[in-house]
Amino acid sequence: MYICSTMLNIGQNLEKARKILKNGGLVAIPTETVYGLAANAYNMDAVARIFEVKKRPYFDPLIVHTHGLIEAAEFVESIPEKAVKLAESFWPGPLTLLLSKKDIISDLVTAGMERVAIRVPNHNLTYQLLESIDFPLVAPSANPFGYVSPTTAIHVEKQLGSEIDYILDGGDCHIGIESTIIGFDEDQTVIYRLGGLEKEQVEACVGKVILRPHSSSNPQAPGMLLSHYAPVKKILTGDIVELTKTNPGSKIGILRFQPSLETRNEYPEIILSKTGDLREAAKNLFASLRKMDEMDIDLIIAETVPNKGLGLAINDRLKRASS
Ligand code: TXA
Ligand code: MG
Repeated sequence: MYICSTMLNIGQNLEKARKILKNGGLVAIPTETVYGLAANAYNMDAVARIFEVKKRPYFDPLIVHTHGLIEAAEFVESIPEKAVKLAESFWPGPLTLLLSKKDIISDLVTAGMERVAIRVPNHNLTYQLLESIDFPLVAPSANPFGYVSPTTAIHVEKQLGSEIDYILDGGDCHIGIESTIIGFDEDQTVIYRLGGLEKEQVEACVGKVILRPHSSSNPQAPGMLLSHYAPVKKILTGDIVELTKTNPGSKIGILRFQPSLETRNEYPEIILSKTGDLREAAKNLFASLRKMDEMDIDLIIAETVPNKGLGLAINDRLKRASS
């Protein structure tokens, strides 16, 4: 019997994942948002290897993953009241908090910044893994730097399979878009990255927030570059009819939010949600962009979605992908 060797590196073996991480290896882990590429946050060689494998610049800091608020308290100087409220309401979940770090978190992890990003992911396998180890995990999304994040184990295998030690397969990511990153400026709650936790949910918990979404000029979040989520193909975002008219010579593929009467089957298209549901659309977004990257087209035309709930994060990713 022939067993493809790379397939041996995908599975649900928690013991194997634990051992590899303990010994300084890299394991892709499932979360509810996207797959992460994990390493022991206290092992600097392992952390450095993450930057190498992803071809990620060292100025782009990593999120530290742990399994609860009490554990998080070991890495940070203090936790503002609003942060406690958010953590209690949304951890485990798609919330990342920026908090002032203790020395135990190295400058390599935070790219020299005094705040560390912390998150408790909501995925059964990864949660069990985190509970069973005595060190936190750094885990950026498990994609080469600049490409869209992976939402299945196969996405990870295709791009990084040969360079990492194991992929913990936890199925499709339920949310499909990265966590919402929140920090505090004096008493203000600031969203630095729109993500899987909706702005409305945050505001219902801690009151009004300021949106300071990342750009290359934002020193608070240096890695959140504008073109951060680009697939390989050119992508234009906006009104589909207009964009198809202004790009007559291109081999177009359409990424639609929901079915439309306009559809004339003239171009291949992918629909993010048959029922116009923003959560379903978010879940399908990155896998759809990957599919379109493999289609015989040279231009992706994507329509923007309603700007509320997860629509804010979807539009943000589309905008970045197209710039
Ligand atoms: O949902 C997620 O957050 C996923 C899963 C795997 O947990 N992780 C993720 O990591 O999206 P990554 O590295 O692809 O994106 C993290 C973003 C980066 O843009 C980085 O610049 C920012 O978070 N970040 C990390 N630490 C930071 C810090 N100390 N201060 C400001 N921004 C930070
Ligand atoms: Mg990423």
